[in-house]
Amino acid sequence: MGVVGLGAVATRLPAAPEPTLPVFNDREPEAYWSAVRSQYPLSRALTYFNTGGLGPAATPVLAKTAEMTRQLQEKSEHGHALLAGARETVARFFGIAPAELAFVRNATEGNAIVAAGLKLVAGDEVIYESHAHPGGSFPWLQQQRLRGIVVKTFEPDPRDPAGNVARIAALHTRRTRVVQVSHITAPTGILMPVREIARLCRERGAWFHVDGAQSAGMIPFSLHAIGCDSFATSGHKWLGGPHETGALFVRRERMDEVAPTLTGAHAGTLDEATGEFRLAADAMRYEYGTRNAAAILGLAEAVRFQEQIGRERIAARGRQLAERVRAGLARLPGVEILTPVAPALCAAMITFRTARVPPDQLFSRLLAERAIRCRPVTEEKLNALRVSTHVFNSPAECDALIAGVEKILKTA
Ligand SMILES: Cc1ncc(COP(=O)(O)O)c(C=O)c1O
Repeated sequence: MGVVGLGAVATRLPAAPEPTLPVFNDREPEAYWSAVRSQYPLSRALTYFNTGGLGPAATPVLAKTAEMTRQLQEKSEHGHALLAGARETVARFFGIAPAELAFVRNATEGNAIVAAGLKLVAGDEVIYESHAHPGGSFPWLQQQRLRGIVVKTFEPDPRDPAGNVARIAALHTRRTRVVQVSHITAPTGILMPVREIARLCRERGAWFHVDGAQSAGMIPFSLHAIGCDSFATSGHKWLGGPHETGALFVRRERMDEVAPTLTGAHAGTLDEATGEFRLAADAMRYEYGTRNAAAILGLAEAVRFQEQIGRERIAARGRQLAERVRAGLARLPGVEILTPVAPALCAAMITFRTARVPPDQLFSRLLAERAIRCRPVTEEKLNALRVSTHVFNSPAECDALIAGVEKILKTA
């Protein structure tokens, strides 16, 4: 895999942009958050509340990606060797070893690698929540079709974290092999008690996979502290990485239980003398072929940008704005908030509905009349609208949303 000129590319890596954010001052938090907002090329004409769908990237992330694309294109090199540094940065962020991290294209791909790779046979059971996103459920439904595994779902408990553990325990049988949950559910933003579920899975001998598409970059956590066996996320949502970036964690001690189903260069070695093909000892076994190294370096830059702000501060801000949205909407007659109230069960997404205006109409009118972008929730016939609040959002934007909904309700 020797690459001519790669060293020259590597030594010309641009230094990370100097921190451009002021020091956080408790007495003037909005000045700080407005400096954060100025780091996003996201149009000022748009009030963007759909980070749960796709998160905008900040300028340092885009600059890094563009600069690396240019440098690699200048020499027409793939830059694969540069991924090692990005792997260290992203692994540190998740509290795991670099050897446990594979760069994937999105959360769906990470979920699918685990679903297809675990050695399951007909009749083996998999449990996940009925609110799973298609990126979390389709990989298992496909295994149901291909291998005859049995899928069992539970309705998330919006009132009590322990209720979710109990619902999983109630579905568990001696044929249960896998439990999967969304760390934070996509339709209504329910935060799952993943540590407790991990404990249950350990006791019962089930593989525990976490779909972290909505949690990575929204709340701080360490994967080894959670105790799951695998975890997948997208880079292009709450982390603010480039499109088509993602990360897959597989616990080192159990990696041999997830066989890569697609493979190629970088995923292993071929001994020319003996003809023996060996998978890489680390999670690089799940990566293969030519990659977009510039995008992956952009993801590492997104992680650094979040670390510069501070993960606790990001989570607190997202929650604070979400609570403002919740309180404002809850005051409007006929509005029902579907996202649980208890802090242990929610974070930075609020889903609401009203019988007076269908969600597609509410969504379209907010967008057309006020340039406010939410996300309609049609899953499980919830007929609702989801609001994601992140670091580039402001209290004034939350108030504009509440006023917009109020006006539409009055004229409905
Ligand atoms: C919980 C969950 N899993 C998976 C996905 C799919 O993400 P991606 O399209 O990046 O693979 C989403 C997207 O919203 C999600 O919310």
